Amino acid sequence: MGIVDSGTQVKAEVFGTLGVGGVVEKYMLTSAEIELELISYGARVVALKTKDRDGVWGDVTLGYGELKPYVENTNAYFGVIAGRYANRIAKGRFELAGKTVQTTINDGVNMLHGGVEGFDQRNWEGEIVEGGVEFALVSPDGDQGFPGTLEVRVRYTLRGSVVRIEYSAVSDKATVVNLTNHAYFNLDGEASGTILEEELTLEADAYTPVADAAAIPTGEIATVDGTPFDFRRATVIGSRIGDENDQLKFGRGYDHNWVVRGKAGELRPAAKVVAPKSGRVLTVETTEPGIQFYSGNFLDGTLVGKSGVAYVQRSGFCLETQAFPDAPNHGGFPGTEVEVGEEYSSVTTWAFGVE
Ligand code: GLA
Repeated sequence: MGIVDSGTQVKAEVFGTLGVGGVVEKYMLTSAEIELELISYGARVVALKTKDRDGVWGDVTLGYGELKPYVENTNAYFGVIAGRYANRIAKGRFELAGKTVQTTINDGVNMLHGGVEGFDQRNWEGEIVEGGVEFALVSPDGDQGFPGTLEVRVRYTLRGSVVRIEYSAVSDKATVVNLTNHAYFNLDGEASGTILEEELTLEADAYTPVADAAAIPTGEIATVDGTPFDFRRATVIGSRIGDENDQLKFGRGYDHNWVVRGKAGELRPAAKVVAPKSGRVLTVETTEPGIQFYSGNFLDGTLVGKSGVAYVQRSGFCLETQAFPDAPNHGGFPGTEVEVGEEYSSVTTWAFGVE
């Protein structure tokens, strides 16, 4: 079954079975530097192994070793493709072409990550491609309230130490689309405690503050200058997370969207994380206008991961490259509307290394 591209080997096997939804496939992408494991349920990352500065392999993503807990605990969104609209839409409601769209509601009074049954809970169709796997999903017209039949493709490829995620989608009605990957990373290893000592750089001069703990943006684009949201220079994640700051209180830590410097549509640096203990480094580039940095605030030790260790608060971080949250309700945010026949496309890369 393996296909070879510049040293990347791709293999598939059965990961598990869903009651009625069929067989969940697992795909293993292997290069000299990385082992990436993906499953069709949620088109998600289930493992990502890289070497530390001593050459010791470690799994740097949170998740489970079997299907059952992925199906039973959907709230953490471990490794998933979030869609049709990642992040939040206030009250699941917005105007589109003169009509009000109402989506399903799954986060208090708001929609989060696509609604009650988001793309994270679908068993995608996987296909081995050169150097990786492409997942396809057809989301019917009216799915979770969103207009238009949406044909979605998410392609993960591995080349050396770089994972590339390419998203595309077309609709037969005007709609909104915002796709992201929701992997939780801990560069010292998924069972190594919190990420508070890892150092983050965000290529962002501004962020979008939220109104309250429901995390809907106010619409303001605020400078990070002089705030705990300034990650323009590498800063230890935990150094200001407990500061007296309303925004940090609303998010119970970091759970906000930053405005990525430069031009959306062009692949450019967005974030870098260095873990001083292991020496591992992750660099994120994206074509998206924004990036949600979520410091794993809702993890509370109840979910037990693949190596039997409970995921305590802040034991992983997410860097969700995306359109801005609730953009359909904020004229000042970059648009997320996709017209009939127009192709939505987006690229994000994760490059791994050591320092
Ligand atoms: C996103 C959200 C968080 C939280 C997680 C999943 O990162 O912004 O508020 O919902 O997903 O727990």
